[in-house]
Amino acid sequence: MLVTTKEMFEKSMKEGYAIGAFNVNNMEIIQAIVEAAAESRSPVILQASSSAIKYAKMRYLMKMVEAAVEEHPEVPIAIHLDHGPDFETAKMCIDSGFTSVMIDGSKYSFEENIELTKKVVDYAHSKGVVVEAELGKLAGIEDEVKVEASDAMYTDPVQAQEFVKRTGCDSLAIAIGTSHGAYKFKGEAKLRFDILKEIKERIPNTPIVLHGASTVIPKLVEMCNQYGGDIPGAKGVPDEILKQASNSGVSKINVDTDLRLAMTAGIRKVFSEDPSAFDPRKYLMPARELIKDTVKHKMVNVFGSSNRI
Ligand code: G3H
Ligand code: 13P
Ligand code: ZN
Repeated sequence: MLVTTKEMFEKSMKEGYAIGAFNVNNMEIIQAIVEAAAESRSPVILQASSSAIKYAKMRYLMKMVEAAVEEHPEVPIAIHLDHGPDFETAKMCIDSGFTSVMIDGSKYSFEENIELTKKVVDYAHSKGVVVEAELGKLAGIEDEVKVEASDAMYTDPVQAQEFVKRTGCDSLAIAIGTSHGAYKFKGEAKLRFDILKEIKERIPNTPIVLHGASTVIPKLVEMCNQYGGDIPGAKGVPDEILKQASNSGVSKINVDTDLRLAMTAGIRKVFSEDPSAFDPRKYLMPARELIKDTVKHKMVNVFGSSNRI
């Protein structure tokens, strides 16, 4: 069933688990994610960035999501715009049938972010669509950065409260130490759970979103490297920390890098073991399976969203 994230988050906040939001770019990725959700009886958020929409093309993307919904009517599925850069992109997605959009005004000043987010919220709500906004800077936080400097990048709980009140956004992406991509930490992986706690105290009814939350699963990185890849020193957010986040009021956990790694590892293995392979089905099928296993692992063992439907 195609849904907004409203009911999904209400239930997950009450019961204390997170919902995975997985980035989609093509048919194999969509199939893998939705099959994993169906098999683990988990709600799921499919999300597409504006570059993913350019790549897959809006009509194909929406038809594939529609097909997934028809194939698994029992699974609550939301289709969400990831990192909407401007009002026009958010509007295009809303008008094309997205049930949720993100407007990412985190690069703007506090006041500009509020103004842009509010504009998207007003349009989205008039169409029954929900909005995720972002406050704080997600850039990689390195060990050497002085505490005072890095503190400025984290989400300020007082500002978060004012932001939600003034924009009316439905969920809020926060910065507590995660970052996008395969290189999140140089030393020990650490998130600012103290900031999360204060944010939850100030806006207890607003679902909190964690971007840049891939584990950068060591087994997948090793597999990529074993079969000819070169991804040294990659490091993500360990499962234990994500589990703690899921239990501490984070409602949505974004995953893209782990899916990219799974796809790449699967394809590399086939080519490395059989250089004569040139049937796309032969190298995409194992990759699709690996994505499915990865998503299922997160739903069942990390986010706690399995057996919730
Ligand atoms: O956070 C961004 C996602 O990983 C999507 O990346 O813009 O390359 O599709 P993308
Ligand atoms: P990762 O790069 O950690 O997978 O984060 C993805 C993300 O936040 C998409 O919005
Ligand atoms: Zn993100």
